[in-house]
Amino acid sequence: VNPTQTIARKRDGHSLTRDEIAAFVRGFVQGEIPDYQMSAMAMAIFLRGMNDDETAELTREMLLSGTTLRWSANTPPKVDKHSTGGIGDKTSLILAPLLACCGLQVPMISGRGLGATGGTLDKLESIPGFRTDLTPQEMCDQVERVGCVITGTTDEIAPADRKLYALRDVTATVASVPLITASIMSKKLAEGLDALVLDVKWGSGAFMKSLDLARALSKSLVAVGNQMGVPTTALLTDMNQPLGRMVGGTVEMDESVAGLTGHGPADLMQLVVALGTELLVSAGAAASVDDARRRLVDELNSGRALEKLHEMVKAQGGDLDAPRPLADESTVSTADEGLICSIDAERLGLAVIEMGGGRKRLGDQIDHSVGLQMLVRIGDHVQPGQPLVHLYAAQPVSQRLRGLVQQAFVIGRDAAEERPLILERHGESGVG
Ligand code: URA
Repeated sequence: VNPTQTIARKRDGHSLTRDEIAAFVRGFVQGEIPDYQMSAMAMAIFLRGMNDDETAELTREMLLSGTTLRWSANTPPKVDKHSTGGIGDKTSLILAPLLACCGLQVPMISGRGLGATGGTLDKLESIPGFRTDLTPQEMCDQVERVGCVITGTTDEIAPADRKLYALRDVTATVASVPLITASIMSKKLAEGLDALVLDVKWGSGAFMKSLDLARALSKSLVAVGNQMGVPTTALLTDMNQPLGRMVGGTVEMDESVAGLTGHGPADLMQLVVALGTELLVSAGAAASVDDARRRLVDELNSGRALEKLHEMVKAQGGDLDAPRPLADESTVSTADEGLICSIDAERLGLAVIEMGGGRKRLGDQIDHSVGLQMLVRIGDHVQPGQPLVHLYAAQPVSQRLRGLVQQAFVIGRDAAEERPLILERHGESGVG
């Protein structure tokens, strides 16, 4: 297969064959197809798109570029949840131990902060000693022993994605539905799953600002997962304000611990239970939606889910009881009166990064002690002088930072549009 011709065919809007995609990805991984040709192909895909069959083939080839986790026979179903990322999204920290308590096994390979969103691994690293660099063998051993693991990816998993993502990042080709689908699914399917649920977020704090694009991504992820033989469903969820109340390392870890005893904020707990229900039903581990919900809530209320988090953290070298310091608290208030019409959640994420709670450059150290607490939600009525957020800041809070936070809140007269947290569900697991 001539790579130039394959690029030209995609540039001209044709569908690529299985052989063309396989030859291109394999050539790229083996160094026979140079970065400039892969960059041109990424741009052709970005502009022309791919159908579901092409996207599934691209995913399969990227998956086959590396190793997949192998499980012993007759062990419980393996499941995972992946979120496209949002501000204050800590559902993974609750869901992994919770599902393990419900008899499933969760080999969760998670990521670091991307853009303004915080990463699950970064939040877990607020726990002293916690390791996020397990080898595939350590992952498998821990999952079979404890029931869950949350760790980073390794060089062995989908190396084609790592190589391609680095090019996409610098060639303006990240925001492409087929390329994102293949990137996410090649890593998730390497976990050897029996069921997968995706939380596709849209809104001011999400990677996907447009509802149409988020919907297209959600449907594409579901189509590819199912085509590759893994029962996959997705929830399209609102990310126009932070999920829960806390944004930052230690504060989100603390909120997750509260959630694991059933005492988390309502929106966070609603999403945890909805995503958990999808997986229990898809994996055939619950007789019905009601059964799934009841079991999830029972495990939270019993305290067993929190015990499971302790067990997971200990297995990964951490101590959940060790002190997790919190920076000094100060308050940002509003000068206005009215309704909170909208919140720029991304701006709040950026404020946390500004305080040192995220990275501005690759390799930056994260200060887990900083963050913020939301004191208001969209639709609340506020008075002049009313606090909007508590900041936890290691340095004196500058006027610039205070302004950044205040500008995240649009306060006016018109009642905000009521939006459900879970807008749509895609896929066929039988959850009604
Ligand atoms: N996350 C990924 O893993 N890949 C993408 O392409 C975008 C977000």
